[in-house]
Amino acid sequence: MDIKALQAAFLKYFDTQSQRAFFAPGRVNLIGEHIDYNGGHVLPCAISNGTYGLVSLRSDQKVSCVSLNFESDGCVSFDLADLSYQASDSWLSYIKGMIQYCQEKSGKTVSGFNLLIYGNIPNGAGLSSSASLELLIGMIVNQLFDLGLSHLDLALLGQKVENDYLGLNTGIMDQFAIGMSHADSAVYLKVSDMSYEFLPLQLGEVVLLIMNTNKQRKLTDSKYNQRRAECDQALADLQKECDITYLCQLRPDQFEALSHLIEDPTIRQRAKHVVYEDERTQQAKEALLSSDWEAFGQLMNQSHQSLREDYDVTGLELDTLVEAAWEQEGVLGARMTGAGMGGCAIALVKKDRLDSVKDQIQAIYQAKVGYPASFYLAQSAPGICELTAINEED
Ligand code: GLA
Repeated sequence: MDIKALQAAFLKYFDTQSQRAFFAPGRVNLIGEHIDYNGGHVLPCAISNGTYGLVSLRSDQKVSCVSLNFESDGCVSFDLADLSYQASDSWLSYIKGMIQYCQEKSGKTVSGFNLLIYGNIPNGAGLSSSASLELLIGMIVNQLFDLGLSHLDLALLGQKVENDYLGLNTGIMDQFAIGMSHADSAVYLKVSDMSYEFLPLQLGEVVLLIMNTNKQRKLTDSKYNQRRAECDQALADLQKECDITYLCQLRPDQFEALSHLIEDPTIRQRAKHVVYEDERTQQAKEALLSSDWEAFGQLMNQSHQSLREDYDVTGLELDTLVEAAWEQEGVLGARMTGAGMGGCAIALVKKDRLDSVKDQIQAIYQAKVGYPASFYLAQSAPGICELTAINEED
């Protein structure tokens, strides 16, 4: 769908022309999984699949919204005087929550507008369609009403929507990746002190293949909050004899010396994943900087094994995709990405082997799981931005 089609849809729904258009990308995490909420390092990058928002100002205090991804919902409106959470709101919650927190943070008020949304990130696929929508809304109200918020503010407010408005204890990785990203780079973030650097992503003869299990999952009914609680328990056990604030303060050898303090063997496994994944992410940064994709791929494989065996967030669909990828010539590495339990995996694939790799993986996946996977190439994307002229191909 291109911008002209979105403008035409806007006119159809609102009987007026859109005035401005905005874009927020999705993200994939290259490595560093389930460690953002343990103070570790993450290495995500923005992708060109994202969320588009077209707007026009209204003269009242209503926000009227249409999502082309949920067209059967039609045009839904709410009054800015009542931004309280309603369980029946579904995707509208992200919009209401974000407006509420942007107003609170800036001390300024937002007035009415019409909004048309269209996203080409598959929902529930672990590519951060929610964070993309949060950042899109944050940017729209920030720009339309001169709220003076920074991109980092918007990222933190997006996380607050997840944590406080929706009750899901996610970390900052997704919102940070989307709000702060640059084209052609991955962002290396150390969550414990929020220091970060952009690393140039020059893949050369290698491509980043996104493989969607097409098994949707909702983080709200997933193991996500349970894993966080298990990490908190591991930390509490370790803190009995060790002065640390985050699990990721421990390097693997320190962890091995202290792991007996964690009473429950399952919780010990969770903590092991966290500590070793942080170490792998630090090594992956070096591999990326020296374009050593073989080494990077090995670290991806180890990451998936650890998420499968110690963190237990993969499942049949993700394991089938990733293990099928590992068997293929031309695949340097593969792992699940995002929260897991469904959603997407990624693989580093030599360009000249891409077609046969996809065909082979699809055949294995379909035979084992019973329905097909989808494949996309991760294309570099700008960060959140206002669009002057775009011609976005779906
Ligand atoms: C989800 C969360 C992130 C992060 C990942 C797992 O995407 O939103 O904060 O915890 O899972 O790495």
